[in-house]
Amino acid sequence: MTSEDKLIEAARAAKENSYSPYSKFPVGAAVLLEDGQVFIGTNIENASYGLTCCAERVALFSARTATSAKVSAIAISIGHKDELLPKTSLVPCGACRQVMSEFLDPETPVYVDGNRSFTMAELLPHSFKLR
Ligand code: THU
Repeated sequence: MTSEDKLIEAARAAKENSYSPYSKFPVGAAVLLEDGQVFIGTNIENASYGLTCCAERVALFSARTATSAKVSAIAISIGHKDELLPKTSLVPCGACRQVMSEFLDPETPVYVDGNRSFTMAELLPHSFKLR
């Protein structure tokens, strides 16, 4: 299994604990750090819908809480495996792209289960930055 496959597998596994009673749409994410550690996240919804936090942000915030090690890659697994979603749906949302751009270099890979790999810059060129 390649390191890409392993990270996608971790993102898939993270979906198992998705808290998504409203959308019933599980998402999992796994962040690989340069020191080899992997942090996972899943989407956590709320009865006040707008307070929902996406899987990518949960994983990145968890990683950054534990360590300042650089992010080498992120993998995302979106939706149910038996649900046929168009490839255009298998991408991180805009808000998560902005958050990802804070911690990923432009060339850092973003692996998406069931889709191709992207670089951070492909997903969000011209991201907003204050430094
Ligand atoms: N969701 C994510 O976790 N990541 C994304 O990039 C897209 C959307 C979640 C939020 C919500 O819980 C569910 O998917 C449906 O929008």
